Amino acid sequence: MRRIRVTVDGRAHEHEVEPRLLLIHYLREVLGIGGAHVGCDTSNCGACTVLMDGESVKSCTVLAVQADGHEITTVQGLAGDGGWHPVQKAFHEAHGLQCGYCTPGMIMAAVSLLRENPDPSEQEIREGLEGNLCRCTGYENIVRAVQQAAREMRGQAVAAS
Ligand code: FES
Ligand code: FES
Repeated sequence: MRRIRVTVDGRAHEHEVEPRLLLIHYLREVLGIGGAHVGCDTSNCGACTVLMDGESVKSCTVLAVQADGHEITTVQGLAGDGGWHPVQKAFHEAHGLQCGYCTPGMIMAAVSLLRENPDPSEQEIREGLEGNLCRCTGYENIVRAVQQAAREMRGQAVAAS
């Protein structure tokens, strides 16, 4: 067993974990964060995507021990005092989801994409999210949602400057 200290959604945690425990299982089973989904467990679907120090990672490809000392953000930690994050809001308003299974991972990948590229083209959105699979939507509304969130976040940045 190894002792790890991880900050998840703003809260500090310390646990003894098996060295082979995957981060996604740590989040779901040890911390009870059901918003991080498991779709495939084999790094294909992206449903388990979370942010580690602000960068998106598929948490089924990361060991819990590798998260030691790092900051993890899941979809459950995204909303702030002012309500939903613009990406969450845009997915809701632009109907970027149907069954919702891919949605937590898709949203976290979109947040990471917009952090790196606040004004992505449609092609850049499609490429940025290509590691995240959706079986329901055909991706059109997901792309629209990310475009809507990007506009809103750029507007907020201008208003704050
Ligand atoms: S559960 Fe991690 S990529 Fe599918
Ligand atoms: S909304 Fe069902 S898998 Fe994406």
